[in-house]
Amino acid sequence: MSSKHYFIYTFGCAMNEYDTERIAASLEARGYIPSDTVDDSDFIVLNTCSVREKPQAKILSYLGQIKLLKEKRPDMIVGVSGCVAQQEGDKFLKNNKVVNFVMGTDAVSHIDDIIDRALNGERFADTEVDSSSFSISSFNRKDKIAANVTIMKGCNNFCSYCIVPYVRGREVSRTPEEIINEVKSLVSKGVKEVCLLGQNVNSYGRNLSKKIDFPDLLSLVNKVEGLERIRFVTSHPKDFSDKMIYAMAENDKVCRYLHLPLQSGSNQILKAMNRRYTYEEYKEKILKAREVMPDIEFSSDFIVGFPNETDEDFNATLNAVKEIGYDRIFAFNYSKRPGTKAFDMEDNVPAKVKSERLNSLFELQDSLYDKKLPSLTGIKTEVLITDINEDKEFPYYGLNMYNRKVAFSSDKSLNYGDTVNVLIQNARRNCLYGIEV
Ligand code: SAH
Ligand code: SF4
Ligand code: F3S
Repeated sequence: MSSKHYFIYTFGCAMNEYDTERIAASLEARGYIPSDTVDDSDFIVLNTCSVREKPQAKILSYLGQIKLLKEKRPDMIVGVSGCVAQQEGDKFLKNNKVVNFVMGTDAVSHIDDIIDRALNGERFADTEVDSSSFSISSFNRKDKIAANVTIMKGCNNFCSYCIVPYVRGREVSRTPEEIINEVKSLVSKGVKEVCLLGQNVNSYGRNLSKKIDFPDLLSLVNKVEGLERIRFVTSHPKDFSDKMIYAMAENDKVCRYLHLPLQSGSNQILKAMNRRYTYEEYKEKILKAREVMPDIEFSSDFIVGFPNETDEDFNATLNAVKEIGYDRIFAFNYSKRPGTKAFDMEDNVPAKVKSERLNSLFELQDSLYDKKLPSLTGIKTEVLITDINEDKEFPYYGLNMYNRKVAFSSDKSLNYGDTVNVLIQNARRNCLYGIEV
């Protein structure tokens, strides 16, 4: 009998990537082999994102392609997971005959059962959400040097534009014991770097009976022997405390990189977004973090064209980008999401204006970063090797402590997971190039 293959499309954030790994582990335990394409796959999962309209629209176009394949191979099983699945539930089954099952964001916790039911020929939607506790049993991971570890699920912040609280439920943390055990187990399999995941890691621990917060958790993870680096996403500025700053500074494995999404530089827009901080408060936290860790680098998310955003509001965002000096920014056109508070506001910034604003924001960031690039050459930086391709001019690749991509060459034969010093000789926007020293 020939082996069965699976294929998982992953959209959205690191939460979905983590869930994809859990689904993959369960399929592989049954003998399924990963495939590079849907064409020869027997089990397909679309792990979806609904944070903006565009990724959601993509799902339907993929389903159209899969329908043609399934006409030729009716035994093929097609599942939809993630945030669109959570949002649409039963409707997805009714409207898309090609779909065998719909699993919501919490169904991953009983993935074995879901796969059994699908293989038994059942058509179903499981979108129940359990916000009482959060536990993830151990699962097999692919050989990795850097791995994600989910520390909490859900979000209680209800930013007015955002669908995440509706599709991921209330905030619930995993126990520190479970997290530490997962990190230790990953390290025993060769992992050197973990990224702790949550929609708002700074509110970690609030639902746990044991008194623990995110800075405490960082200190615990920092003690795991054999682990070299710790990253985390995402931090909400309103909950980013002085204690966090000192925890980052004092725990030597924590990378000197902070993703702190500002979203807008205008206080009026921040208020309408229900972000619960002002630009001035945000800036103060950035300055404090820089005072304690002068080498720290920052990145941020921005939304342009939020309802009623004026030129003046947008200029405040441009001004913030200039003042803060980000290493990198992620920016998106505002997209109206059903069920959110902002859905009732008129989406009154024309698409053309949104796109112009988005372009000028990226142009500004690029020009600021280009000015910074020369200062990055001639310096030595520590890189954890996560990729090797002998055919390339710079065969080794990895990130440094500041989350910058570094490609380099060496006289020696180096291995995955080695941490080495690299002298940067050429700094480009997307990657730094150098030689191991
Ligand atoms: N919990 C994280 C990330 C959530 S989603 C945080 O609070 O930062 C990732 C990013 O998508 C957000 O930071 C925001 O910039 C963007 N986003 C969320 N909803 C959006 C919407 N309706 N339209 C456009 N961008 C959106
Ligand atoms: Fe969405 Fe705000 Fe929660 Fe982030 S903090 S997931 S932007 S509601
Ligand atoms: Fe998207 Fe869901 Fe993540 S909406 S951004 S996949 S939490």
